[in-house]
Amino acid sequence: MTQPASLAVVASGRGRNLEAIQAAINRGDLNARIVGVFSNKTYAPALTFAREHGIPTDALRPRQYADRASYDAALAEHVAAVAPDWVVLAGYMRILTANFIDRFGGQLVNIHPSLLPAYKGLHTHARALAAGERIHGASVHFVTSELDAGPVIRQGHIHVQPDDSAETLADRVMARVERQLYATALAELINGTVVYRNNAVYRDGKPQQEPPNVCYDTISTCHPDS
Ligand code: GRF
Repeated sequence: MTQPASLAVVASGRGRNLEAIQAAINRGDLNARIVGVFSNKTYAPALTFAREHGIPTDALRPRQYADRASYDAALAEHVAAVAPDWVVLAGYMRILTANFIDRFGGQLVNIHPSLLPAYKGLHTHARALAAGERIHGASVHFVTSELDAGPVIRQGHIHVQPDDSAETLADRVMARVERQLYATALAELINGTVVYRNNAVYRDGKPQQEPPNVCYDTISTCHPDS
């Protein structure tokens, strides 16, 4: 087994993706080590989870910096100091400036709760419901300077149920899709199945035309046409 890849996780919130990544590492499904959790929120539950699991944490408060660019420059320095192989955005709720993105370009990934390119930005679950979507899910993608528009590595989906609210849908996308999807995509990056080149995803050495999009419903509700 090769040396575990080092992951720097950047998070603002509840940290369920962080937890899922750590669980995949613990199960032996991901040959990685989380070397730091970074946040713009001093009290983010993601930081609590990290502390409880012996992962170094680093909270940088935006108010202590003159502007977004200087905040991102400081964040980039702190992240670079742990020498990560991959910088993993997991519910990081600030838009990153170009300097940060360029510095970690090709090593910087994000999970977004929609089937990109649909529903970039916020309130993805409510928007998918309002549009009457039959399926909804999440995407792991490389981060580029255009918000939620970097090349997609892989996706996962579930079926929208007639009685879904934005909350129940969000909970199911998290529980069924996101908790599996990020670790699967990271494993592909770490083992070299997926490579980022010329602003595109290469899978098994070939340009990826369409990202894999796995159904994460229980088998009986995974329709063959989705
Ligand atoms: C997730 O839905 C993720 O896709 C989005 O923000 C949410 C973060 O949740 N980018 P958590 O902090 O991982 O619990």
